[in-house]
Formats: sequence, structure tokens, C-alpha cells
Amino acid sequence: MKNIIEVINLTTSYKDRIIQDNISFNVKYSEIFGILGGSGSGKSTLLSTMLYLKEPLSGSIKIFDSDIWKINHNKRSIILRKCGVVFQFGALYSSLSVLDNVGIMLEEYSSYPKKIIDEISQYFINIVGLPNYVKDMYPHELSGGMKKRVGLARALAFNPKILFLDEPTSGLDPQSAENFDKLILKLRDHFKLSVVMVTHDLDSIKDITDRFILLGNSKILFSGSLEEFKYSQANKIDNLLKSKRGERLWKEG
Ligand SMILES: Nc1ncnc2c1ncn2[C@@H]1O[C@H](COP(=O)(O)OP(=O)(O)OP(=O)(O)O)[C@@H](O)[C@H]1O
Ligand SMILES: [Mg+2]
Repeated sequence: MKNIIEVINLTTSYKDRIIQDNISFNVKYSEIFGILGGSGSGKSTLLSTMLYLKEPLSGSIKIFDSDIWKINHNKRSIILRKCGVVFQFGALYSSLSVLDNVGIMLEEYSSYPKKIIDEISQYFINIVGLPNYVKDMYPHELSGGMKKRVGLARALAFNPKILFLDEPTSGLDPQSAENFDKLILKLRDHFKLSVVMVTHDLDSIKDITDRFILLGNSKILFSGSLEEFKYSQANKIDNLLKSKRGERLWKEG
């Protein structure tokens, strides 16, 4: 199948500390692609580089065949608007209601009247499985799981083709995490999304990703499907895949 994202010989760093050392991988259309690795292995850094938030030292990132770090501003804006993001730490605006949080991208970048934006926002609040009354609540009144769903509704409201999720299930109890995973699967099918999901939740990898990469020591230690991983020689953490939710935190190395 065709690639929607191509990462080619990518090196990233903070000052002279290398985080990714010449890594390459592809994400295919309509797949759920996992980026797995221990805390500090560079997952969020990689996502930031893919979203034009952190400049790479060298290499390229192609989304829809365009190198996002090389193309002009206008072309890049068009591509980035097809990318929905749910950040690791929620990033909801505390002074805005849920409805306004979900509609904020449309407020900023569309010319729809407020009434239409509210209707679209309400639709996506329902799509992610939240009851109607949540629309008038504020972020501090929400549970962790609800916040994640609001973040997801906001990302979906702009009609993305690719959804980037940074640790979508971290901090959730096992049941909520599983429910969230199922929701991602449904949304992928319903909206024909490609999903790039950063996680250190091995159960998410097992349950919903089609393929994944495992980051460690600034390199890709493994790339492929779970089946391939099970049979690969390089899997010194194989036994960890047998772990249940709740025992999912593990260290790099
Ligand atoms: N803005 C920054 N300036 C300097 N170093 C940074 C910065 N952001 C991250 N780092 C370092 O880069 C490394 C990778 O961090 P990153 O946040 O990408 O890891 P991660 O895999 O997302 O970890 P976690 O699972 O804890 O979210 C870490 O050692 C971190 O200290
Ligand atoms: Mg991170």
C-alpha cells in the first residue's frame, strides 16, 4: 500500500545531544502506526519533528509526498491542516468551555459562523462518546479520560486525514484505556484516517496498531507488525508483551 508519511535518514538533536540517529520508516494509508519506546527514548521529539514543531538536524519528512521542512509556507499550511494532533499533556484551554475548546481550530481557520462551528463541535463531542452536557463544562471539571476525548474531538473537528496521538491512554485506568483504543479503531474506519500513535502502552500496540517501531539508543530497534516482532530475533523485551495493562511501564535498554 502507498505511504502517507516517509521519514528518511532523520537525525534530531537538542544542542549536541543526538535523539534520533539517522532513522527511516514509513506510515501507510489507513494504518494505525505505533511509535513505541521507553520514557526519554525520543517519541515526542520525533512527533514534533513530523509536525513541523522541532527542526531536524538532517534528513527529511515527507507527508503526502512533500518534504514538510523544505516546501514553502503555503504548501506546508495545507498539509499541516490535514494533520490532527492530540498532544501528550492535553493542552485544553482552561478558560474555554468544552464546546469552544473543540471549535477553536475552526474559529481560527474557517469562515463558518459561530452557530455552525458550535454544531460541528457538538457533533464531534458526541462522536468521541461524550454526553451532550459536557459541552458546557470546563477542563478542570473533567476526568482524565474525558479530557483525552475532548482533545480528540478538537483534533477531529478540522477533518484531518492523519491523526497524531501522543500517549493517548497514559494516565487512564485499564478499562478506560481499552475503551479509548476501541474508539480510535472505530474513528480510523469511520473517517478513513491514518493514525500515528506514540505510546509506551504495550496493550495498545497489541490491540490496535497494524505496525509499529520500537525506539531505543537513538535508533529503531524494531520495525514491523506484532506478528513479525514475535518472531524477530531482536526482541529482548518479548516477554513484556505478555504483560497486562497496569504493568506497562518499562525502562529503556
Ligand atoms: N526541549 C528540550 N530541550 C532539551 N532536551 C529535551 C527537550 N525535550 C526533550 N528533551 C530530551 O530529549 C530526550 C527525549 O525526550 P522525549 O520527550 O522526546 O521522550 P519521550 O520518548 O517522549 O518520553 P516520555 O515517554 O517520557 O514522554 C529526553 O532525554 C529529554 O530530556
Ligand atoms: Mg513523550
